[in-house]
Amino acid sequence: MLTSAARLVPGGRAVGVDLWRSVDQSGNDPAGSRANAGAEGVAVDLLTGDLRALPVRTGAVDVVVSSLAIHNIPDERGRLSAVGEAYRVLRPGGRLVVADFRHARRYAEELTRLGCTDVRVRGLGWRFWYGGPWASTAAVTATRP
Ligand SMILES: C[S@@+](CC[C@H](N)C(=O)[O-])C[C@H]1O[C@@H](n2cnc3c(N)ncnc32)[C@H](O)[C@@H]1O
Repeated sequence: MLTSAARLVPGGRAVGVDLWRSVDQSGNDPAGSRANAGAEGVAVDLLTGDLRALPVRTGAVDVVVSSLAIHNIPDERGRLSAVGEAYRVLRPGGRLVVADFRHARRYAEELTRLGCTDVRVRGLGWRFWYGGPWASTAAVTATRP
């Protein structure tokens, strides 16, 4: 997701934040992600950090993208903290898209509560099944006013 986003902003800066937990993704490490980005011809900045406390300045980001990560936080309070952090780092008018196969509607409710506009949830189709149709992924999109 980060590499694809970076390709869309050749003059911009693409920053990825992760805890690099191998329990969530085998072979997970920043060197691999950096090499993948390099193979695609883009540079990315990779930070080690928790989605619940992003190491990013408030209002500094044009677009937040998150793919199949927030569901790994075990408790709802933590997941909503992550959504709140994504909102915090967005600049006014910034856009957000979060792909999740479990809690997309709950994130949409939270983004609405936080004051986002254009909050939408849409299915991403069979290409984004997390193993099968019982775990189909939806994307939440929203704008920070
Ligand atoms: C299934 S992988 C998805 C990785 C990537 N976004 C993708 O779509 O290929 C889930 C990722 O979430 C990360 N993760 C889980 N809990 C996290 C947390 N609290 N803060 C930051 N990253 C976390 C894991 O380390 C892992 O890299």
